[in-house]
Amino acid sequence: MPLTIRDAGADDWPGIWPIIRDVVTEQQTFPYDPAMSESEARQQWLVAAPARVVVAADGDRVLGTANMYANRPGPGSHVASGSLMVSRDARGHGVGRALVVDLIAWARRTGFAAIQFNAVVETNVHAVRLYESLGFVTLGIAPGAFQHPVEGRVGLRIMWLEL
Ligand SMILES: CC(C)(COP(=O)(O)OP(=O)(O)OC[C@H]1O[C@@H](n2cnc3c(N)ncnc32)[C@H](O)[C@@H]1OP(=O)(O)O)[C@@H](O)C(=O)NCCC(=O)NCCS
Repeated sequence: MPLTIRDAGADDWPGIWPIIRDVVTEQQTFPYDPAMSESEARQQWLVAAPARVVVAADGDRVLGTANMYANRPGPGSHVASGSLMVSRDARGHGVGRALVVDLIAWARRTGFAAIQFNAVVETNVHAVRLYESLGFVTLGIAPGAFQHPVEGRVGLRIMWLEL
């Protein structure tokens, strides 16, 4: 079955939660509390409209998820941001690319001027390569801002795409 990106419904949460749980407990790519409970994760990830949550699905199987929203309120609300996660088993097969392409399309049609990723872990080379291949540039790196379980303190990139 082909990969589809669609708005997430309440029924999708059981498919989304294991993906978030793995990423958060790995502690390699997101500065989230590894002890985050399921209900905290649900509250944080399932952002309310006009923000948006999607899943990448193959039939009933959720392979990845993304959320997207205004990066800041008020005078900062013309810049979008977002987060994405792909199931460990499904990585390296284009799911992440499909989610970022969808995020960019959403930000464009919603009228955002740019997309800013606030904290891309320097050692997350697949994510950095993916974003760069879609036109994102790195504005700067907060040195040593992320405690990686294997690499120690590594930088966090601010990445930017003008729309
Ligand atoms: C980063 C992440 C979202 C990428 O999703 P993915 O589905 O694995 O990525 P894709 O298969 O779409 O690959 C996109 C690009 O990443 C790179 N890439 C992905 N997997 C790779 C691998 N195993 N080896 C080398 N490059 C790889 C390639 O440059 C690829 O480009 P291509 O499409 O030209 O081949 C995914 O690995 C993930 O969820 N990681 C954990 C959470 C995370 O890091 N989220 C992003 C935080 S900023």
